[in-house]
Amino acid sequence: MCGIVGYIGYREAWPVVLKGLKRLEYRGYDSAGIALINKSGMNIYKKAGKVSELEAFAENKDRSGPVAIGHTRWATHGAPSDRNSHPHTSNDGRLAIIHNGIIENYATLKEELLRRGHQFNSDTDTEVLIHLIEEIYKNEKTDLLEAVRLALHEVSGAYAIVVMDSQQPDQLIAARKGSPMVIGVGQGEYFIASDATPIVEYTKNVIYMNDNEIAYVKRDELLIKRLDNVIQTPYVQELELKLEMLEKSGYEHFMLKEIYEQPRSVRDCLRGRIYPNEGRVQLGGINEYAHKLKNIDRIIIVACGTSWHAGLVGEYLIEEFARIPVEVEYASEFRYRNPIITEKDVVIAISQSGETADTMAAIEMAKEKGATIFGVCNVVGASIPRITHAGAYTHAGPEIGVASTKAFTAQVTVLTLIALHLAQQKGTVGSSKLTELLTELDHIPEKIEQALKSDTLIREISEKFKDSRNCLFLGRGTGFPVALEGALKLKEISYIHAEGYPAAEMKHGPIALIDEEMPVVVIATKNSSYEKVISNIQEVKARKGIVLAIVTEGDTEVRRMVDYCIEIPDANEAFLPLLATIPLQLLSYHIAVLRGCNVDQPRNLAKSVTVE
Ligand code: AGP
Repeated sequence: MCGIVGYIGYREAWPVVLKGLKRLEYRGYDSAGIALINKSGMNIYKKAGKVSELEAFAENKDRSGPVAIGHTRWATHGAPSDRNSHPHTSNDGRLAIIHNGIIENYATLKEELLRRGHQFNSDTDTEVLIHLIEEIYKNEKTDLLEAVRLALHEVSGAYAIVVMDSQQPDQLIAARKGSPMVIGVGQGEYFIASDATPIVEYTKNVIYMNDNEIAYVKRDELLIKRLDNVIQTPYVQELELKLEMLEKSGYEHFMLKEIYEQPRSVRDCLRGRIYPNEGRVQLGGINEYAHKLKNIDRIIIVACGTSWHAGLVGEYLIEEFARIPVEVEYASEFRYRNPIITEKDVVIAISQSGETADTMAAIEMAKEKGATIFGVCNVVGASIPRITHAGAYTHAGPEIGVASTKAFTAQVTVLTLIALHLAQQKGTVGSSKLTELLTELDHIPEKIEQALKSDTLIREISEKFKDSRNCLFLGRGTGFPVALEGALKLKEISYIHAEGYPAAEMKHGPIALIDEEMPVVVIATKNSSYEKVISNIQEVKARKGIVLAIVTEGDTEVRRMVDYCIEIPDANEAFLPLLATIPLQLLSYHIAVLRGCNVDQPRNLAKSVTVE
């Protein structure tokens, strides 16, 4: 996905848009560009590389003007390069556009435009769109708002666009479908961005644009219409986001800050939802659909990446406590395989960003087949919470690091609450057991705090693993999704190939990989599968494997068998993922730092994948 920022008002637009792009860089950072308009006309500066490279490139150039649009790119069509960077211009250079999304029928449109004599400077779908707008603008002899509206009727795909006209510098045209867009409402100024982070330091008043809406924005005027030309009343909301949540607060990287925020984020996620003394769980979204959830046949969890791992934890917990069958599906597979879904199914869609294209498509498909959709999301006002029937926010706060950490433990916390709420509703867990579980859950933030104290030891161990070329993560029960998550963290920020595996599966193949070059991380905490995991450790050691074990504090038995040991506080097996994941997050973080990797913005990745 990409980040877009637009500004029109009384300030110098360059610093507003440039800083806005830096706040959005976690959405994509292959290349960046800004177009500004001032009395001398339109200036466009764009470069492959990070926003800081664009800033250096434009250092001594004319960056004046009160209106600008900017873009930071995660490449879909066309390699990351100067020429493929946004903004893109019309054939005559008069119009400029920035775009987050994909124009699926761009090739057909391009052919027709080429036939009409248009010439293109890039390989992007976005450039085709601005040429189409230009064609309509000229032929229909209409205003820019109408030209954009008519052009969008001819495209298929997803977009969040902002268009500017160098000959009419007092207006911006913005539109969205399938990609997010927020409008910040200031005094004599407006801000347009992919999310609220570039806006929050200037105004708390925002409008979340809906799909198929188009906006005409001037310094002191805003008109929003649907693509069918029906005027909409803007719904202005007040942002909960605070500026300080977007800063590193003294940490070297956002990822480390977010790892350390987990005692607070899990506490925020629990707040107002558990009453241990009463043995009661209170999840608003579940209450709304209590009638529906009481007699459901099945729960299907759809998600991607880390959120899919959280879904696996949810499967174990919901089946364990609420005795409801659960299936966990990769959203990208689920959406295309024509699954059997009935109105007796509930789909839980998990997404930190609330913008993941595959997850959104899976939701729409399940809705069409009659399922009830429950969303578990972190970003307030994102697209997914707006298309689900009910849901629960994870309240982890903005997660800037591309590698998800606090969002994962917050997702697992919400799924734990869902499992316990359903169990409470169905009576599958008695009140005394519920009281016991909720009392322990209430203390998990303190136990996470305890687990973070191993950071120095983990950094020392990371020195031993940093040059590894491969790594295996093993776990059983709820330790298995933790193993998958640990492997994903390591591979996505250190670029070391890593695999998570059920520990018992080793003997069915992966054990062939074991030698003295292969580090194996094992979740070996005291729980129902402890003895069996010990056998798996012995199988690895018998083949000279190097073992790092995550153990329950005070465990001396495993410590004697393995090469490295990291202790976590004891806890009910159900809450193991909330604790065992912490050392794995720190391990991947320190290894990546020691390898000189860009921890917050790993190569080839983006924070949320809003394309298919
Ligand atoms: C996890 O560290 C990755 N950033 C990625 O797998 C992510 O979890 C996945 O893209 C899903 O994103 P979402 O939760 O925003 O839908």
